[in-house]
Amino acid sequence: MNNFDNLIELGKLSAIITDGDQYKPEEIFKSVLDLLNVYFKADWCIIRKHDELNQNLEIIESSGLSSDELVELKSLTTSSLVYSHIVLQRKPLQVDNIYNEPLFNNEVYITQGILSFIATPIIVNDRVLGSIKIYSKKPKVWKKSEMIFLNIVASQLSMTMSNYDMMNGYKADYQAIVSAIIKLLEIKDKYTSGHSIRVSYYAVLIAKQLELSTSEIKRIEIAAILHDIGKVVVSDEILNKSSKLSEEEFNEIKKHSVIGAIVLRSGGFCEKIYKAVEQHHEWWNGKGYPYGISGDMISLNARIIAVADAYETMTSQRPYHKIKSHDEAIEELVRCSGTQFCPTIVKVFLSIKE
Ligand SMILES: [Fe+2]
Repeated sequence: MNNFDNLIELGKLSAIITDGDQYKPEEIFKSVLDLLNVYFKADWCIIRKHDELNQNLEIIESSGLSSDELVELKSLTTSSLVYSHIVLQRKPLQVDNIYNEPLFNNEVYITQGILSFIATPIIVNDRVLGSIKIYSKKPKVWKKSEMIFLNIVASQLSMTMSNYDMMNGYKADYQAIVSAIIKLLEIKDKYTSGHSIRVSYYAVLIAKQLELSTSEIKRIEIAAILHDIGKVVVSDEILNKSSKLSEEEFNEIKKHSVIGAIVLRSGGFCEKIYKAVEQHHEWWNGKGYPYGISGDMISLNARIIAVADAYETMTSQRPYHKIKSHDEAIEELVRCSGTQFCPTIVKVFLSIKE
């Protein structure tokens, strides 16, 4: 490629990267790698993220590799010379022919036929956040212009890598908070251990069968995990009572859907999540609680969680009922379809092969 082509490619990359608001970091990485693959006529292109805590470079996006080849390639740890070059010395690295550089000649390259590569770190505020590496299955004398080009791409990607790093940090914190809340609920209500996770699993199966969008499926997953969160304010005696509840005690339990919704709303969760929690005990025929709304007035997410919740409860050991088999639980869902449950959701649940 000549300098003019370089500029065109850089222009395309800049357009993708600077449009970061419109694309997720993963989408930007993928597009950048596809362009690099064409530009370098490469066999493989890989972006790695630097895990500073565990000191390794793990693959987060790749282009040109089959899934088998991806399995072969492991994270680069401190024992790897490439890790030491890229992370510790913070320098780009080029190997024209691995057979002339025994230090960089490893088994995976030989098995996969890789003969040369170049790599460079992605540095943000003096921290190595990741790396880009281009591989060729031919020996190749990498040109200076190619290394410069790769370094420019790496510096352009620094903001995207920083966003990716931050989002993953948030995600891990967020998941930890949700897990802690569920643990708290399970300590209080000893009969519901694992219930929220299993309800969430069934709710996501239904949402996927309905071909809902990824973000909608994520909201259903969160609402299902947190659907009984309001039970933390119900007394332990009522929650763990193995005999029949009095009307007064049942009225106390019934408050959990509204309390859960209030807590999630004030915590900043979106309306589709807290409404699903609020309405997960509403019935299709209007005989549920807390408001007695019916049909399509009940949010789709709440109708999905209601079916998932009922199936999970029936097929789990509880003090107040005999455990049902899968077939018995399905029979009960069908029997209550159109009265307690939304008929469409029951039908979708029955159509899931799993
Ligand atoms: Fe509930």
